[in-house]
Amino acid sequence: GMRGIVFDLDGVLTDTAEYHYQAWKALGEKIGIPFDRAFNENLKGISRMDSLERILELGHKENDYTQAEKEILASDKNEHYKELILEITPKDLLPGIKAFIEAAKARGLRLALASASKNGPVILERLGMTDYFEAVVDPSTLEHGKPDPEIFTKGAELLGLPAEECVGIEDAQAGIAAINAAGMFSVGVGSAESMKEADLFVESTADLDLDEIMRAAAAK
Ligand code: G6P
Ligand code: MG
Repeated sequence: GMRGIVFDLDGVLTDTAEYHYQAWKALGEKIGIPFDRAFNENLKGISRMDSLERILELGHKENDYTQAEKEILASDKNEHYKELILEITPKDLLPGIKAFIEAAKARGLRLALASASKNGPVILERLGMTDYFEAVVDPSTLEHGKPDPEIFTKGAELLGLPAEECVGIEDAQAGIAAINAAGMFSVGVGSAESMKEADLFVESTADLDLDEIMRAAAAK
């Protein structure tokens, strides 16, 4: 049976996906590359530098900046993002997610965090959720980002569980692809369209139902 759950953070525990979007959008506008929410779907789950590359490619400006200049752009975005997340409190947990996590703990499931964000531990702390997680994958130790399975494989490994005994929960297309490639049961939070590769999907975290997920995962 299922013994662990490996969670994405941004867009699953809290709505920082929106703050990432705001911060990238502001940077994009500053350098003459405006984009919308539809394009932003391609940035979810993608590391800071890779996100910048995708934005520059969108504007055909990937060769206009040196590596050092790109690092400054990425760091500007991160400073703006850090300002936006300063105000996060436990009230910013997405609907139902705390009850879901408590239900998982009550059932003896082991929990790990698999976020590509270097700000993950700070956000977890601000949300008051650090103690629920036995393991947090450090994204700076990874060779490949999502959609590569590495971050989820590592999450299961840190829990000491085989991937097949873990469920992964994500709001990003790249994240669902990573969970599937890791051989875990994938649960998507988002629209039917963006979550079409997920084994099971819900439109909102409020609809995450532990019993339903455990049944579906066991039946797969
Ligand atoms: C998560 C988010 C991405 C973000 C990435 C890196 O995967 O979904 O939007 O780019 O983390 O976050 P960081 O806080 O390290 O810039
Ligand atoms: Mg996410």
